Amino acid sequence: MTKRILVTVGTRPEAIKMAPVIRALQAQPDLECRVLATAQHRQMLDQVLAVFGITPDIDLDIMQPGQSLTGLTGRLLLRLEEVLAAEQPDAILAQGDTTTVLATALAAFYARIPFGHVEAGLRTGDLSNPFPEEMNRVVASHLTRWHFAPTRLAADRLLAEGYAPDSIHVTGNTVIDALHMVAATDPDSGLALDPARRTLLVTLHRRENFGAPLGRILDALERLMNDNPDLQMVLPVHHNPAVRGSVNARLSGHDRVILCEPLDYTAFVGAMMGATLILSDSGGVQEEAPALGKPVLVLRETTERPEAVSAGVTRLVGTQAETIRAAAQQLLDDPAAYAAMARRESPYGDGQAAGRIVAALRAGLA
Ligand code: UD1
Ligand code: UDP
Repeated sequence: MTKRILVTVGTRPEAIKMAPVIRALQAQPDLECRVLATAQHRQMLDQVLAVFGITPDIDLDIMQPGQSLTGLTGRLLLRLEEVLAAEQPDAILAQGDTTTVLATALAAFYARIPFGHVEAGLRTGDLSNPFPEEMNRVVASHLTRWHFAPTRLAADRLLAEGYAPDSIHVTGNTVIDALHMVAATDPDSGLALDPARRTLLVTLHRRENFGAPLGRILDALERLMNDNPDLQMVLPVHHNPAVRGSVNARLSGHDRVILCEPLDYTAFVGAMMGATLILSDSGGVQEEAPALGKPVLVLRETTERPEAVSAGVTRLVGTQAETIRAAAQQLLDDPAAYAAMARRESPYGDGQAAGRIVAALRAGLA
C-alpha cells in the first residue's frame, strides 16, 4: 500500500536541505510525498522553493514581521494539529533545529505519527548557544523515531545520549546533495564584482550574536575593508530586522561593500565559488564551503559542526573584533596559511544522503 510522507519546511536552510529528499521521495512510485511549508520564512523560503521547482501542497503562511519565539511556536502548533488531522500521514520528516522543527516534532508526537529527523545529533552541549536551536535539537531527538545523522560523530552523540542503535542512520548531510545539484550548473552570483579584487563573502544572522557581538563583528569587517584597499565584500543581508538595522547602519555607503538582498541559492553558490574567504555565522555555509575548497572563519563562540574544524578547513574565531580581524588578515597575507585552509574537503557528505534517508525510511515503514 502507498505510504504517505509529509515533509515540513519552514526556513531557507530547511528547504535547501530537504529539496533533495523531496525529489528522492517524489521519484518513488510506492511513496506519496506531501510538502508542508510553514513559511516561518516567507521570501527566503520561496526563493529556495523556486530554485528547486517545489510547490508546497500546504502552506501555513505563518511568518509575521519580528515574530517572537513563543508566538511562532504557539501558532505553529495550533495550525499543525489541524493539518495532521486532515492529512493523516504515515510519517513526518523535518530537518534541522528551527522552531518549525520543534513544533513539527511535537505536533507529530501528540498526533502519534512517527517523526524522522534529518540532520540529527548535532550538539554544542550549551542550551544557550546556539539559542534556541540547541534546545530545539535536543527536544526533537526525544520525539524522533528515525534519526538521520549526517556524520559518524553525530550518530555517536545520539548513541551516547542513549538512543537505540537501530533508530540511528548515518546518511551524510543532504546539503551536499543540494550543493552538487546546483554547483554542476556552473552558477554565477549575478553581482557586479570587480574581477581584479579579492572577495570576502559574509553572512550574519544568529540570535546569540545580536547586539554587542554583532557590533564587534561589524567593527572587524570595517577594519578589514579599510586596511585592505584591494578587497571587496559581498554581504547578502538576512531579512531578520535585528540584522538589517545593524548591518545597514554600519556598512552601507562603503564603496567596496556590496550589501544586497539574500541571494537565491544558485547565485549564493556562485558567490561562494567566487569568494577568496568566507566569514559567516551560518550552519549550512560551514558545511558547503569546505566542499568547494573555500576557507570559512566561523563568527561564533562554539560550533556543532566540529568535523570541518578538525579537518583544518573552517576555523572558529568567535566574536571578538581583533581575533576576527587578525585571523582574516593572516589568511589574506600568508599564501601558505591560506593554502592550508583552502582545501576541498567534504566531511559532511558525498551527495548521496537523500537516497539513504529514503531507503531507511522505506525499511522503517515496511
Ligand atoms: C531562523 C531560525 C534559525 C535559522 C535561520 C535561517 C529559529 C528560531 N531560527 O532564524 O535557526 O538558522 O532561520 O536563516 O527557528 N524575515 C522576513 N522574511 C524572510 C525571513 C525572515 O521578513 O523570508 C524576518 C521576519 O521579520 C521574521 C524575522 O525575520 O519575523 C525572523 O525570522 P525567524 O524565522 O523567526 O528567525 P531567523 O532569525 O530568520
Ligand atoms: N544562502 C543562500 N543565500 C544567501 C545566503 C545563504 O541561499 O544569501 C544559503 C547557504 O548556501 C546555506 C543556507 O542558505 O545553504 C544557510 O542558511 P542560513 O545561514 O540562513 O541558516 P543556517 O544554515 O545557519 O541555519
